[in-house]
Amino acid sequence: MTAFALAYTLHVLAALVWVGGMFFAWIVLRPAAVAALEGPARLKLWAQVFPRFFIWVWAAVVLLPISGIGLLHLRFNGFESAPRYVQIMMGLYLVMTALFIRIQALQLPQLQQAVTAEDWPEGAATLGKIRRLVGINLIIGLLVVALASARPLF
Ligand code: HEM
Repeated sequence: MTAFALAYTLHVLAALVWVGGMFFAWIVLRPAAVAALEGPARLKLWAQVFPRFFIWVWAAVVLLPISGIGLLHLRFNGFESAPRYVQIMMGLYLVMTALFIRIQALQLPQLQQAVTAEDWPEGAATLGKIRRLVGINLIIGLLVVALASARPLF
């Protein structure tokens, strides 16, 4: 396997895991949890789901720029000559990572505290904030993948 093929494969797998995980959480698991579980059980479920998923998001957060910058050098000889869609991809990566770190550092601990204290209204409010941020990140992630795939147009 060439360095290019390795970097490309890791890059696309990392994007797949992050964006696909958010798609599943938002579009499939969220409505299923609302239909099947009462409020407290739902909050306990999400307090278990997020830390497990976030390990994989961290892997993607680390792998995407490493493999992406590798690809930049192998394919476009560095930042200067990179096409506009790659510049946009890097900018949107920063936005996605900032939102993810906000959830990880601020909102997940709040959710876990509320669940431990059995403060369900507080937990529901925090879960609502997380849902909004994950929704935004999902839309950005889908846009980045669409942009990368439609690159001949840019
Ligand atoms: C610092 C962050 C990033 C850098 C430097 C970067 C850079 C690159 C480069 C150079 C390519 C190859 C482009 C080509 O061969 O024409 C690429 C492809 C790709 N990137 Fe990124 N990227 C970054 C973040 C992301 C993120 C956050 C996602 C999605 C969530 C993503 C998804 C993709 C996909 C799906 C491709 C493959 C496109 C295809 O072949 O159809 N990248 N990236």
